[in-house]
Amino acid sequence: MNSTPGILIFCLEKEEQVWVDVCSFVTEFISRLFSCGSHESGLYYALDLGGTNFRVLRVHLGGLNGGIVNQEFAEVPIPPELMTGAADALFDYIAAELAKFVAQEGQEHELPPGRKRELGFTFSFPVNQTSIASGTLVRWTKGFSIDELVGQDVVTELSRAMKRQNLEMHVSALVNDTVGTLAGGRYTNKDVAAAVILGTGTNAAYVERAQAIPKWHGALPKSGEMVINMEWGNFKSSHLPLTEFDNSLDGDSLNPGEQIFEKLISGMYLGEIVRRALLKMAEEASFFGETVPSKLKVPFILRTPDMSAMHHDTSSDLKVVASKLKDILEITSTSLKTRKVIVEVCNIIATRGSRLAAAGVVAILRKMGEVQQKTVIAMDGGLYEHYNEYSKCLENTLTELLGEEVSKTVEVIHANDGSGIGAALLAASHSQYL
Ligand code: BG6
Ligand code: GLC
Repeated sequence: MNSTPGILIFCLEKEEQVWVDVCSFVTEFISRLFSCGSHESGLYYALDLGGTNFRVLRVHLGGLNGGIVNQEFAEVPIPPELMTGAADALFDYIAAELAKFVAQEGQEHELPPGRKRELGFTFSFPVNQTSIASGTLVRWTKGFSIDELVGQDVVTELSRAMKRQNLEMHVSALVNDTVGTLAGGRYTNKDVAAAVILGTGTNAAYVERAQAIPKWHGALPKSGEMVINMEWGNFKSSHLPLTEFDNSLDGDSLNPGEQIFEKLISGMYLGEIVRRALLKMAEEASFFGETVPSKLKVPFILRTPDMSAMHHDTSSDLKVVASKLKDILEITSTSLKTRKVIVEVCNIIATRGSRLAAAGVVAILRKMGEVQQKTVIAMDGGLYEHYNEYSKCLENTLTELLGEEVSKTVEVIHANDGSGIGAALLAASHSQYL
């Protein structure tokens, strides 16, 4: 693996045509995004479930061109046992945190009498959207697995849990994080045409001409455009080469055969691919000496933030790598040469992921038509935000694939917390009091 660092890198030039087909994986969500103008005002809430943490947001909208006056949020980790436990336990936990957030509010947050608080629910899993504020869960991704919720309306489940917490709140919009990021991004920048999440999972949404969507049989919206949530994480193709590490990771996962693209690209899996590669090197080439370090056999022990820290180690003796090996894998003594190889393994795996992500972005740009005018891609997610080598490689690959000239018209921006803001905006634009 070390001697052929290019082996994992997908030959993107040759496969471009295949990537354009990613877009025919048109999936669930059609949103009334374009009604989301800048005239909404007042306090709105968002609940964001689907990343490493879940977030509760309060957004104060300023009305006609007033933009976002103020926003506050709380971030809470999801206890791992709730991700695979009972439906009520997960929703009760979320609703209780939301109730806590509301209970801490001061008088300035009071609503006019008779008016309920309104919430945009960012639920970042594949959903069959049945209306702006309802949708049934198609399947779980990213390590969640609660069978009894599959096929259920997630807004109904949340509303019931809020009732159990005596929390008076109305869910006005249900959105995927990509769609929320697109809405939030577009609110402040009209050139935003697509949103990409690179975090625990990965996905993209973009604005499509309604007539170019063969799957859509409903009425055409006035704008002539629709938002497509691609669920690109579930893309797979015989043109997408998988290594033995990808195959074994997939086979051992909670959702074998699903989310293959996501398993090559996103934050939940990159560190685990590195671990699997290092384990094989230990077992077959005595990479860490005569015995195989036992911690190296523990699935998901090496997280992507640890991989990123090792990859970014610029010290001459790679001391960050040494300390990660010691603290996480209990490997106390390694040569500099060994540590250099580990950095290279991280580099290969991150490079493959980010080049594939860039290929997906190029596929969207091509599907939208020739890029002649300024096109902005709103990106969010911990991987994009914190793994600098990954995001740098993504941007370089975009330039490589689009060419210097075209790439000047494409801008990637970090839409920080865009999906929560987008969800609050959509809740506002679909308020029951309008
Ligand atoms: C956040 C968005 O910033 O990024 C979320 O607001 C999104 O909606 C999340 O799901 C993904 O990031 P991560 O790294 O926590 O999975
Ligand atoms: C997973 C989910 C998808 C979400 C993405 C990013 O792929 O299935 O809905 O948008 O993660 O959070």
